[in-house]
Amino acid sequence: MQIVGHICSTLLYSVASVALLSFVFMMPYVLNEYRSKSHDAFKQFMNEVPVYVLTMLSVIKRWVLHTKRGKAFAIYFLLLVNGFVPLLVTTLFAITFVVYLAWELRDTRKRKICEEYIDMGPIKADYTMAEYHETMTQIGQVSELTASQFSILSHAGFGGLPFVPNSILDVGCGAGWLSYKLQDRYPDCDITGIEINDEAIKFAAKQAHKNKKTPTFRLIEHPDLREPDKSVDVITCSLVVHHIPTEEDIIELLRRCGKVARKAIIISDLERNGLSTIMFRHVMAPLFNNKITKHDGELSVRRSFTETEYKSFLTKAGYKPNQYTINWRPVNWFIITILL
Ligand SMILES: C[S@@+](CC[C@H](N)C(=O)[O-])C[C@H]1O[C@@H](n2cnc3c(N)ncnc32)[C@H](O)[C@@H]1O
Repeated sequence: MQIVGHICSTLLYSVASVALLSFVFMMPYVLNEYRSKSHDAFKQFMNEVPVYVLTMLSVIKRWVLHTKRGKAFAIYFLLLVNGFVPLLVTTLFAITFVVYLAWELRDTRKRKICEEYIDMGPIKADYTMAEYHETMTQIGQVSELTASQFSILSHAGFGGLPFVPNSILDVGCGAGWLSYKLQDRYPDCDITGIEINDEAIKFAAKQAHKNKKTPTFRLIEHPDLREPDKSVDVITCSLVVHHIPTEEDIIELLRRCGKVARKAIIISDLERNGLSTIMFRHVMAPLFNNKITKHDGELSVRRSFTETEYKSFLTKAGYKPNQYTINWRPVNWFIITILL
């Protein structure tokens, strides 16, 4: 009976140790988010519930780490629950976990530039159209789950923009998830999704919709945005930048966006960091059995950029720091809003 109790408390303490360590690693992001948050909208609050929870837990963590009373309480609690042997076992477990994490992080911080399956196409990457359609659906689900589409619509741009757009160009619209959401929000707006992948365009056009007006989807032959200058109010570009082959091409695309849009550009993409990569590898990837999602999901994080890198692209594309904002969103997204 005592052994069962020890095993249970060891397990409990192991989980608590992992959770504590995760918070240590999450702290920079939590604090970053906490600083950049504005408190004025209920919707935004709903969007940020995970951040509030993490912030609360980080306060507990600070209490334990930075006050004598907190430390005393934590030690008392651990000894009470565990006893000495489980404490030793779980400390060893925690050390092993940290060493393992550090070892994985060492490699995952570097930018990886091999091609994603969806960019390679079905023949080179050996996937079926059913697998492709499933992965496009999963991209939409992940965006929904992480509230990234909602963030694009509310926090970073439209809720805060001082105008209602008459036309929006969704560059790299994929399966059209964002284009349809934009149409829900702006039923009278002319929304066009453009894509270099014809299968994505066909898939987007077939999506069920409830609005009278629907987005128009168009295949483009060239990836370098050859739309006419000043032809739309707003450009959105979600999860596309990390697909672009070279940094010069990214800078050129950003520059072209500034020519084609009249009022604003909203770009969203992932933040490259080791922790996100590891989280995707060990937590998200096992949830999907689609080979493209498994491969491209982690690679998307690894092909993405840091805030400093995004800033450098914007500067090289000719934007001044007072023209744009870069907002970090849970979990590890950037929404870049450029006002023209
Ligand atoms: C990960 S999907 C994102 C789709 C969609 N924007 C979303 O957020 O759900 C990226 C898409 O960008 C497209 N793409 C990549 N480079 C592009 C470019 N230069 N111009 C237009 N589309 C591009 C790809 O074909 C792919 O369908």
